[in-house]
Amino acid sequence: MDATTNNKTATLTVGNNSYELPILTGTVGPDVVDIGKLYAQTGMFTYDPGFTSTASCQSKITYIDGDAGVLEYRGYPIEQLAERGDFLETCYLLLYGELPTRAQKDDFDLRITRHTMVHEQMARFFQGFRRDAHPMAVMVGALAAFYHDSTDINDPKQRMIASMRMIAKIPTLAAMAYKYSIGQPFMYPKNSLSFAGNFLHMCFAVPCEEFKVNPVLSAALDKIFTLHADHEQNASTSTVRIAGSSGANPFACIAAGIACLWGPAHGGANEAALAMLKEIGSVDNIPEFITKVKDKNSSVRLMGFGHRVYKNYDPRAKIMQQVCHEVLAETGHHGDPLLKVAMELEKIALSDPYFIDRKLYPNVDFYSGITLKAMGFPTDMFTVLFAVARTVGWISQWSEMLEDPQQKIGRPRQLFTGHTRREYVGIDKRD
Ligand code: ACO
Repeated sequence: MDATTNNKTATLTVGNNSYELPILTGTVGPDVVDIGKLYAQTGMFTYDPGFTSTASCQSKITYIDGDAGVLEYRGYPIEQLAERGDFLETCYLLLYGELPTRAQKDDFDLRITRHTMVHEQMARFFQGFRRDAHPMAVMVGALAAFYHDSTDINDPKQRMIASMRMIAKIPTLAAMAYKYSIGQPFMYPKNSLSFAGNFLHMCFAVPCEEFKVNPVLSAALDKIFTLHADHEQNASTSTVRIAGSSGANPFACIAAGIACLWGPAHGGANEAALAMLKEIGSVDNIPEFITKVKDKNSSVRLMGFGHRVYKNYDPRAKIMQQVCHEVLAETGHHGDPLLKVAMELEKIALSDPYFIDRKLYPNVDFYSGITLKAMGFPTDMFTVLFAVARTVGWISQWSEMLEDPQQKIGRPRQLFTGHTRREYVGIDKRD
């Protein structure tokens, strides 16, 4: 199904001139005004910093209704996928558009778990990084250097091979980045383990000791991966699409997505939320902190709260809160003072007019930091885990973009407010 026009139009009036602009309708969600020919018709651009009202593409992958707190992958609600499926099933769904049959699922799982090893040369490549390099930096560098010319991006078969390689191998690179940052030997993947179980093994096993995957933690991590698998045209996904629109290879495009995800307003928010909970320290300090958040001169924000799209409870946050309780109970952290601070903070913020009026609700990051910490991950690995999960979303969106006949190189325009033309002045004559 492509967007339909239904012969609806919007009229733009500029001075004495009127222009008819087609309105496109999708399967669900707001209609869009097609302004593709606006410049040719009127000589004007549109202005929308941060793309708050702009649809950059047509997509069939993920649907969000931010006002209702809805998130669906290929039409399936996130709650059902997280509760009843597993992450690799979600990967299949995002890549192929349908849930797999049993035979397709077995084959897919096998193809992913059999391709988890990376070239041995990667181990030597890692040695080039400073020993305290951030694992996100290592991920970006490692990926951009990986298979850089192996994919004919116009061949759907080769695109799928590249996609599978990334889903299978990025966890291995992520675990290697972690091991490198703590000075431990790399652990080879174990293909007999589940996707999440193998990741825990590669991160937490050491060669000199037996390591048993904890099934509660592995199930929790699998859910965390599912919750983060895709999120329509967010900043990092748009970055991947823009990078891909120039014909760059998919590994470099995903590296670009990882770089964008690193920022504290996007993937780095759970790290920031955990730092904030530590800074608050105890329930008694919450009122003072809330006062600072509400003070316009302080620039302090309640991290893990608010979302560009969700103006209601983030549906992933509800599942994440449940996962958080399960993990903390399993690891003996249920009395963790940070959890107490988080729960009290959430209660206070949800009843405070400042947050209610601005529709600021907890997002997925509010609880994910405490959960990952309890699982044993250091804070600088949080965004790396997000990248492992989001790889499938990025690569599905990249592939969809290349299949779109309307695809063009991403090239926004600007409203220029700098100097108009002036003549060059020699350095000796400048004041
Ligand atoms: N704490 C306090 N006030 C906030 C917060 C917050 N977390 N978020 C927004 N506001 C206030 C702003 O000060 C502004 O108030 P004003 O109208 O009085 O000026 C109003 O709410 C609107 O804020 P914007 O910045 O315009 O909202 P936007 O949609 O651009 O921002 C964002 C969304 C960046 C996520 C923001 O809510 C934020 O910074 N949150 C904290 C960081 C965070 O948790 N990010 C994770 C996002 S989820 C993800 O990436 C997986």
